[in-house]
Amino acid sequence: MIYDNDAFFEQYKRLRLEDTGLNGKMEEPCMRPMLGDVSGLRVLDIGAGFGHQAAWLKEHNAQAVVALDPSANMFAHATARHAGKGITFVHGYYEDQVFDDPFDLIVSSMALHYVEDLAPFFAKCHGELVEGGHLVFSMEHPVCTANPTGYSEDGGGKFWRLTDYFREGERVQTWFVDGVRKTHRTLSTVINALIAAGFAIRQVEEPAPMDREYPEGEKTTDYFWIRPSIVVIKAGK
Ligand SMILES: C[S@@+](CC[C@H](N)C(=O)[O-])C[C@H]1O[C@@H](n2cnc3c(N)ncnc32)[C@H](O)[C@@H]1O
Repeated sequence: MIYDNDAFFEQYKRLRLEDTGLNGKMEEPCMRPMLGDVSGLRVLDIGAGFGHQAAWLKEHNAQAVVALDPSANMFAHATARHAGKGITFVHGYYEDQVFDDPFDLIVSSMALHYVEDLAPFFAKCHGELVEGGHLVFSMEHPVCTANPTGYSEDGGGKFWRLTDYFREGERVQTWFVDGVRKTHRTLSTVINALIAAGFAIRQVEEPAPMDREYPEGEKTTDYFWIRPSIVVIKAGK
């Protein structure tokens, strides 16, 4: 569990808590409106991390919020940070959990690219939702996970080195530290896994930082404009 590698965790913590990564810029402005009115809902947050989304759900009157994360570092930080807010924190992998009552909404932010096999994962989500419930998640875009070695630049500009898109499977990359493992699959594999699990696709978004003001010419070099960073999908039962 890379989030329990202390060198990684300290750097990720700085990125996330100072909000210099993707969350505040693109993920939250895109995903939160997709959740709809959460008041009165029983919600599960898979890969809850520091608990930002769980706290937001509670502030927006979700009836119950279960926030789950397998990282001991994340669990310790989130439970301390959000004590007394009525959030139920669970330490563990989603795949290992058994829940007595179904959820109205399952959310997951930027966690599913760490999951090796999405088919049983989505089937479990489907089984744990009420009829009419939704799964809304964001993940690293397959264009990024395909070849996570970054950008190149030549006289013609800055490019994302997209290759191996159709070679699905494990990717090992350097992100703060060596040996960060993610799973790459194509966008169609993700969407078809949802359909096979019984979901109907309600919305698919590839957010760009549209709200930012760009000086003349900057759009071509700002790396968020070069390729999609994340995909956000809403699926209904
Ligand atoms: C990039 S962090 C995102 C944290 C938080 N959702 C956010 O957006 O700030 C990814 C999180 O997914 C968690 N994770 C990885 N695999 C998981 C799994 N199988 N079940 C639940 N959480 C998982 C990690 O422990 C980590 O905290």
